[in-house]
Amino acid sequence: MSNLSQKTFCLYTYGCQMNEHDSERIAGMLESHGAVQVDSVEDAEIAVFVTCCIREAADVRLMGQVASIKNIPLPEGSALAKRMVCIGGCIGQRDGDELPAKLPHVDVVFGTQNIEKLPFLLEAAMSQGGHHVEILEKSDTFSTDLPSKREHPWSAWLPITVGCNNFCTYCIVPYVRGRERSRAIEDIAAEAAGLVADGVKEITLLGQNVNSYGRDLYGEPRFADVLRAVSQTGVERLRFATSHPKDLTDEVIGLYAELDNLMPSLHLPVQSGSDRILKAMNRRYTAAHYLDLIDAVRKANPDVALSTDIIVGFPGETEEDFQATYDLVKRVGYSQVFTFIYSPREGTPAASMVDDTPRDVIQRRFDSLVDLVQENAYAHNQRFVGRTLPVLVEGSSKRDERVLVGHSPHNVTVHAPIPDGMDAASLAGTTVAVKIDTAKAWYLSGAMVRD
Ligand code: SAH
Ligand code: SF4
Ligand code: F3S
Repeated sequence: MSNLSQKTFCLYTYGCQMNEHDSERIAGMLESHGAVQVDSVEDAEIAVFVTCCIREAADVRLMGQVASIKNIPLPEGSALAKRMVCIGGCIGQRDGDELPAKLPHVDVVFGTQNIEKLPFLLEAAMSQGGHHVEILEKSDTFSTDLPSKREHPWSAWLPITVGCNNFCTYCIVPYVRGRERSRAIEDIAAEAAGLVADGVKEITLLGQNVNSYGRDLYGEPRFADVLRAVSQTGVERLRFATSHPKDLTDEVIGLYAELDNLMPSLHLPVQSGSDRILKAMNRRYTAAHYLDLIDAVRKANPDVALSTDIIVGFPGETEEDFQATYDLVKRVGYSQVFTFIYSPREGTPAASMVDDTPRDVIQRRFDSLVDLVQENAYAHNQRFVGRTLPVLVEGSSKRDERVLVGHSPHNVTVHAPIPDGMDAASLAGTTVAVKIDTAKAWYLSGAMVRD
């Protein structure tokens, strides 16, 4: 019997969907060894941190959180001498052997390429004590081959590529996730079919840049082929993240008009509206090209909700550069924008560029963009008022258990009162019709329509 049997563990997950997916695999694996997931660290004999180092603030906060865990006593009755603390994900990959020196109470360090080793490293740490660190530079396995414990049984991540070859000058991801590798299309289609047979209603195809799928495979299958293959499984909702504008093809855009189950939402990070900054970021497209893509998407399906990522305060960003970003955001009319203040990451080319814009100037730019985004989102959402939308229910609102929460096909959050005689638990995972009567910037609300 595994010495993980009956041990309790909790998981802390930070960062992007890659980490969320990896955490579902970690939970699945540990449970297959007999361990039991709990919600709070107080109840956990094992704490696993799946970390992110995309920006400095996240990085620092996380190290603080790992450090403070050593003061929390083990749950009563535990046979262990100390709580097992494991760090994986992107900080694990980046810092490797240095971590136990910085945080001596850390027992296991693993990386982004070997999550399957966690149970073995943990068992070794429990039986022998000491630090167990294993970081691989590169692996050919996909975490998808491991068991998974999905957060919601009806929704699944499906990685189609891992890693990134783009080397945007500000970004740490290529250094901590390695070079891009694609999964065989047959494996993706088979897994998608299995998920659908298992009751999954929503599949999100994952990759740092899903559009460059297949360049490393024989015959160079394209991302559009993957979308068609997964669509054919009949899954109710098909989504993907993330798209790089330089690789988004007309063929993929055309699928928004062709595939009924490809949801009308597209996350297309633009980062900046200034060609000078885009060049310095090594993004390899211009603002004009980006806007052409948006026009083409809207032509294929005017209902597509657009979202993006923006970095404010990249080294050397002038008022004029920022204005170009502001104008682009205004012109596109996004339903959601993730805005970030530039954060230098050691080892990336941008970290050694001259960065002399005063902090308060950057903050003012950031705030004005956030205001614009809020206005845009509010205006964008008004178009849903009066429409009846299919909503995939996730459960009830944290504030009011008689209000259901779910997402529209456009990935906008929807609230509606739960009709008498029904409850959130039985509605979760079903698709209900909601007639929208109110649209706010971040959610829609309305009433459930019963047939
Ligand atoms: N692969 C995805 C995004 C990965 S990171 C893509 O290319 O679209 C998610 C977002 O974090 C990026 O789109 C970018 O806007 C932001 N980001 C990445 N590195 C950053 C940094 N050093 N400082 C601030 N924001 C950053
Ligand atoms: Fe980072 Fe650029 Fe790759 Fe996205 S495409 S992960 S921003 S290097
Ligand atoms: Fe963060 Fe790693 Fe994702 S650095 S954004 S968790 S790939």
